[in-house]
Amino acid sequence: EMAEKAGFEHFMLKEIFEQPRVLRDAIHGNAKVIGDVAREIADYEKIFIVAMGTSYHAGLVGKYLLQRLAKKVPIVEDASEFRYEFEDLIDENSLVIAITQSGETADTLAAMKLAKRKGAKVLAIVNVVGSMATRIADLTLYTHAGPEIGVAATKTYTTQLAVLTMLAIELARTLGTADEEYLKELEENLRRVPDLIEDILNLNEPLRELAEGLKDRENFFYIGRGIGVPTALEGALKLKEISYIHAEGLSAGELKHGPLALIEDGVPVVAIAPKGRTFDKMLGNIEEAKARGAHIIALGSSERLREVSDAFIEMPDLDEILTPIPYIVPLQLLAYHLAVLRGNDPDKPRNLAKSVTVE
Ligand code: G6P
Repeated sequence: EMAEKAGFEHFMLKEIFEQPRVLRDAIHGNAKVIGDVAREIADYEKIFIVAMGTSYHAGLVGKYLLQRLAKKVPIVEDASEFRYEFEDLIDENSLVIAITQSGETADTLAAMKLAKRKGAKVLAIVNVVGSMATRIADLTLYTHAGPEIGVAATKTYTTQLAVLTMLAIELARTLGTADEEYLKELEENLRRVPDLIEDILNLNEPLRELAEGLKDRENFFYIGRGIGVPTALEGALKLKEISYIHAEGLSAGELKHGPLALIEDGVPVVAIAPKGRTFDKMLGNIEEAKARGAHIIALGSSERLREVSDAFIEMPDLDEILTPIPYIVPLQLLAYHLAVLRGNDPDKPRNLAKSVTVE
């Protein structure tokens, strides 16, 4: 097992550090096939994205990508809900995109089977080659992340995001819903993301130190806006899964509608704040939380953000559309270090399984 961990203390840490390499594999491995898949699904207007857990969060990012680039409005449902609520709504004009690392999650497979029975087209985004999901689906895109041993998904999430980004770009190209020049620029910058993540991984030690100061906190809030909302949800999920700290991820705009009542002196609020459409609004939300004593941990690339935060995690300056991939990496590391500092085994969190094959 020591050899398999390649010198890392845990599989999770090894898998976090593998992200630059597997992202290159995911991008390279899909470059040739993505165009055909995009053309096959381009005409569908009724689009459902189904998944569970971290894959569900990838689905939420997928929704923003499809909205912004391909002008499609997909419905994202967790598969355990979809299978019981959408039966009457799916038909042969529907496209169901299932996202599943293992390709064996019971609820996701059931949702896919339902979609097939109703005559829908089913596209699966899967990591495990030859898994059940790939046998049910009409079309499969692989994430090329290699085996993931840690129960908490890391590299399989960022590779799912890479595939979804490529798919949204190709759909936009096929449908003519975005400028070709802009799409080219996005593709070029997506190819740079693995290198940018190498730089982010250099923050491992500062993030461990940050975790030292936070390890006795029992409540965390993660806030984002737009395409940053799923990052907030996924950051909170990572923390819950392995550190057993209660964490809530939400849209920053929702803060005032309840959760703000829980903010008091020293409560950590992690703000996902890339430059973009709603950056100024996010600064306002940060100020609101700060005024109630929140300890602000901000991820972004702006000097103004650095000034208002108690801890600033500097991120590459990227088009908002591409930020979900790099922005989750420090949050994976933060959750990892908090888990280890609290004496937990991040690879084998209590009560959880890598793949949930029963309902
Ligand atoms: C389990 C795992 C999660 C994973 C989810 C969905 O709960 O612990 O990490 O995100 O299942 O798994 P899938 O293989 O369908 O992506």
